[in-house]
Amino acid sequence: MCGIVGYVGSAGVGDKSVDVLLGGLKRLEYRGYDSAGVAVIGADGTLDSRKRAGKLQVLVDDLEADPLRDGQTGIGHTRWATHGGPTDENAHPHLADDGKLALIHNGIIENFSELKAELLAEGVEFLSETDSEVAAHLVARAYRSTGDLAEALRTVVARLDGAFTLLVVHADQPGVVVGARRNSPLVIGLGDGENFLGSDVAAFVAHTRRAMSIGQDQLVTIRPDSVEVVGFDGLPVETSEFEIDWDASAADKGGWSSFMAKEISEEPEAVAKTLLGRVSGGGVHLSELDGVADRLATVDRVIVIACGTAAYAGILGKYAIEQWARVPVEVELAHEFRYRDPVLDEKTLVVSISQSGETMDTLMAVKYAREQGAQVLSICNTQGSTIPRESDAVIYTHAGPEVAVASTKAFLAQGTALFLLGLHLAGLRGTLSTDEIADQVADLQAIPEKIERVLESSERIRTLAGWMADTRSVLFLGRHVGYPIALEGALKLKELAYIHAEGFAAGELKHGPIALIEPGQIVFVIVPSPRDPRSLHPKVVSNIQEIRARGARVIAIAEEGDAAVLPFADEVLHIPLAAPLFESLLAVVPLHVFGMELAAAKGLDVDQPRNLAKSVTVE
Ligand code: M6R
Repeated sequence: MCGIVGYVGSAGVGDKSVDVLLGGLKRLEYRGYDSAGVAVIGADGTLDSRKRAGKLQVLVDDLEADPLRDGQTGIGHTRWATHGGPTDENAHPHLADDGKLALIHNGIIENFSELKAELLAEGVEFLSETDSEVAAHLVARAYRSTGDLAEALRTVVARLDGAFTLLVVHADQPGVVVGARRNSPLVIGLGDGENFLGSDVAAFVAHTRRAMSIGQDQLVTIRPDSVEVVGFDGLPVETSEFEIDWDASAADKGGWSSFMAKEISEEPEAVAKTLLGRVSGGGVHLSELDGVADRLATVDRVIVIACGTAAYAGILGKYAIEQWARVPVEVELAHEFRYRDPVLDEKTLVVSISQSGETMDTLMAVKYAREQGAQVLSICNTQGSTIPRESDAVIYTHAGPEVAVASTKAFLAQGTALFLLGLHLAGLRGTLSTDEIADQVADLQAIPEKIERVLESSERIRTLAGWMADTRSVLFLGRHVGYPIALEGALKLKELAYIHAEGFAAGELKHGPIALIEPGQIVFVIVPSPRDPRSLHPKVVSNIQEIRARGARVIAIAEEGDAAVLPFADEVLHIPLAAPLFESLLAVVPLHVFGMELAAAKGLDVDQPRNLAKSVTVE
């Protein structure tokens, strides 16, 4: 959703705020947006701004044709429309105080109508339909009476309901950017004679790898040589610095045709890096959980909360944790969880999963769970993000930055982290022997190389996708861990290729979905291994025969050497042999490739699908 950048530099760094802001916005493009804008305080002490609906390039072209008066202080924004359509007027920054103050906002100000009515009654003129412009006029009014920008913002946030990150600059205060956050992301970048603010570290990683988190309900003031953080109560708060563990090039395409192509190619590495340092000598070592080890050993229930792809990874976690650690696990969409009055206590372990660490639904569910006394462990891919800060413990996945809006490599890293958690819990609870854990660890360590082999069939999948460019509906069937993989395959097709797609548990077929089968219907079937101890393989092969008998075209994803599916499938995509739970990490790969290739065959933007935002920071 909206991307935010703030910058202050000293005279020594030159007048470069426009470049820094546009560079930061470029790196935040992946969050999804429909308009963009910047405001800078020029070297002559005046505030100048520009904002345009459409892609960032529209703004860039405009600024090239008619440059702003540049300086060393500024703010930049990419907007994902909520209140008011994607127009020039509704784009940020919003100006107030006769054009001397500029404000940008991410989030939703829920009580903006009543605040707007109050301002209208005072004769304030509004130029946009947004909730955000209200905040600009309120801060301007407070600034006129205090002369202190941070204090003005502090008095205003006390009146706002909802979620927000706000950044403000004022022409009377060159060299100062103030920000505030409540349930919306904001990170500080620490430079040398310059400092930065961003929705995430991508906004400034090209300039510095030193960063600092800022907590909920806190305000920050950055100047070229100082950073000050206070609570909404005005009292100083403790801050902690961290080192960003990837560099700017990790967030570049690196010669690939799209970020998604690059990120799928990184799926083996995403698994390998998530395992790195956590498996050795046949054991699992999650030192990040040491502080909660006692409580983990005694939990009597696990609830996994997440959204979208992360929730499908959660289903893999359910199967693994229940099988290995013998604890009941529920998986729930985060946005449903907190509104249904769930029963939680101190023996409940809530596991949240989020690539971005900023998904509002998941964040709110995490806060709710902790308020109810549950302990929360988060699986997250993004350092400095909000969800880990709100959790009792965190397992970071090390998939590296995921820029394409649709999630791919993060899913594999999340699955891997959940498998590690399952084995860790089994060790703590004594439900698996050391040898059993060592066997699983060895199988898991072999997965990255097997994913590499799956990726070798990408060219064939591209050909298949090319044949199917006109397909209007695709179904996905799977059983056991193949079920969440079917859901993930269907989601990728919906969001990337805009095709109707549904994932079903194969056992559910005869309970309804089989009525959808008609001649020519394409059905992907994730076939469990013939070695599967639950004998699911023959059942899924029967499902294939049932749908083939009704004219469906079947594309099976099956283990190498599985001869039983060959007579019944139109195409078979082979995956290497793996332990039953880990097959999921192989079977999902061709589906990621297929979603991307079908979108590409249709000429669609695979990195930024329509209507979607990478990180959903509003409810
Ligand atoms: O950043 P998160 O993992 O919390 O995001 C969760 C979902 O919004 C995300 O997985 C979404 O479903 C993607 N569009 C899937 O490709």
